Amino acid sequence: QTHDNDNVVWHAHQIDKAFRSQQKKQQPCVLWFTGLSGAGKSTVAGALETRLAELGFHTYLLDGDNIRHGLCKDLGFSTEDRRENIRRIGEVAKLMADAGLIVLSAFISPHRQERQLVRDMLPSGEFLEVFVDTPLEECEKRDPKGLYKKARAGQIKHFTGIDSEYEKPEAPEIHLQAGDYTVSELVDQCVAQLKHNQIIR
Ligand code: PPS
Repeated sequence: QTHDNDNVVWHAHQIDKAFRSQQKKQQPCVLWFTGLSGAGKSTVAGALETRLAELGFHTYLLDGDNIRHGLCKDLGFSTEDRRENIRRIGEVAKLMADAGLIVLSAFISPHRQERQLVRDMLPSGEFLEVFVDTPLEECEKRDPKGLYKKARAGQIKHFTGIDSEYEKPEAPEIHLQAGDYTVSELVDQCVAQLKHNQIIR
């Protein structure tokens, strides 16, 4: 079977990732936040982005709810749709890392397979999985959007943690016990790990 793009050839341009990274004086990477709804992914990723911006780094935050209003607005929450959601976001994150940016992404990304798919898209060391590990009970207690309540009442089907699975990361680069610390402390932990991994100095 042939596809239209079988005749499309990759073109290497003169201005490349190495040039753009050097220009920005930073090591591009993708910080992939994963965790349950209400775990604090967007909050911590947003606070980390602010800290990185204050330190002079060039960043971009890809956020679940926002992306689902545009790039992925045709997708729902079935296993196939979540897989396609993460695949698309992975490709976008890869382009942004190619632009020399430190990319932060905040999606539930409940399946190991999809997270691995994105990891495999990037050069080794450029994908850092950040597990925002907040217990389900705590997320349900917070319930900032009232979605757990709806899921328990059967008004939302396939809700992560209720009737749709969340596969915990086995070896995340950064493991945040998010229920036990303040946002600022969690950001400190991320920054320390980024220094350890020589993403930032
Ligand atoms: S996924 O699984 O990675 O494709 O999900 P994501 O793109 O991050 O979108 C999660 C947000 O969508 C809302 N929402 C749901 N979440 C989980 N399960 C179901 N069925 C669902 N329906 C809607 C919810 O607000 C999630 O936002 P966060 O910020 O994670 O709380």
